[in-house]
Amino acid sequence: MGNPGLILVIGASGKTGRAVSRALAARGVSVREGRRPDLDLETGHGVAEALDGVDAVYHLAPNMHPDEVSIAHRVATAALDAGVPRFVFHSVLHPDDSTMPHHWRKHLAEQRIRQLLPTSTIVRPAAYHENLLPAALEGRLTVPYSIDSPFTNVALDDVGEAAAVVLTEAGHEGADYDLVGPEVLSVRDMSRTATEVLGREVTAETMRVRDWADGPGAGLTEQARDDLLAMFASYDKEGLVGQSDDLACLLGRPATTWAGVVAKSR
Ligand SMILES: NC(=O)c1ccc[n+]([C@@H]2O[C@H](COP(=O)([O-])OP(=O)(O)OC[C@H]3O[C@@H](n4cnc5c(N)ncnc54)[C@H](OP(=O)(O)O)[C@@H]3O)[C@@H](O)[C@H]2O)c1
Repeated sequence: MGNPGLILVIGASGKTGRAVSRALAARGVSVREGRRPDLDLETGHGVAEALDGVDAVYHLAPNMHPDEVSIAHRVATAALDAGVPRFVFHSVLHPDDSTMPHHWRKHLAEQRIRQLLPTSTIVRPAAYHENLLPAALEGRLTVPYSIDSPFTNVALDDVGEAAAVVLTEAGHEGADYDLVGPEVLSVRDMSRTATEVLGREVTAETMRVRDWADGPGAGLTEQARDDLLAMFASYDKEGLVGQSDDLACLLGRPATTWAGVVAKSR
């Protein structure tokens, strides 16, 4: 694909989709935004139309969606039927960790996509730094797992840029990339770094899981709450750590640090 042409970004209104679209726009690439109501991933409404005439598709599933595997099947089948030359799937770091149901669904989705489209590319990002950024800026990181668990969180703009690279450049067919940040940090470490960068105190503390379920988790569906509770248990036990230089290789520069993310948001 010499000229990247037109790229469909599914979930374009979400935080990941916006980052991918931004990175593509910065490269001068035309983006078709796959979003409701024109496209509904649950019913399949508009999927074929969205794929019509595109040169590549970036597929991501709505967060914690119970039918992620059927959605992946639907989109990949439609891409195959439409003869879309390039397909990139947004997965997650360690998708085969079966203790976290939403990771395992991504593992099954990856398998389904690869069966249908063997040359598809899979990107597996760690948790985004931006998940904790608003709380850091408010001065208080409160999480329902150990603040000493290790993470290699990644900057969302780096994920968007890496996605743009694999969508627009040749040589990534059939590849899998773990997109992890350049440092291993606990939430306690992140609070210390944010304190230094912002020049004001940012605290870190663990909240009881029960308080999370009765508070921030109360408005979620039972399935989303259970998925997140399983994730918090896993984070409590071992954090979420990857070891890979895939991201820096794709970007052609070091990946962004947590200090860099906080500094940029000041
Ligand atoms: N957060 C992380 O740290 C992290 C790390 C690695 C991987 N991921 C994965 O990244 C993916 C995207 O996460 P996100 O945080 O960017 O999600 P998000 O901000 O919630 O965005 C989800 C997108 O999906 C769209 N959507 C929802 N239901 C839809 C439907 N039925 N049909 C069509 N579009 C629909 C939403 O559109 P509307 O505006 O219409 O609702 C939105 O554009 C998820 O699969 C998540 O597991 C996240």
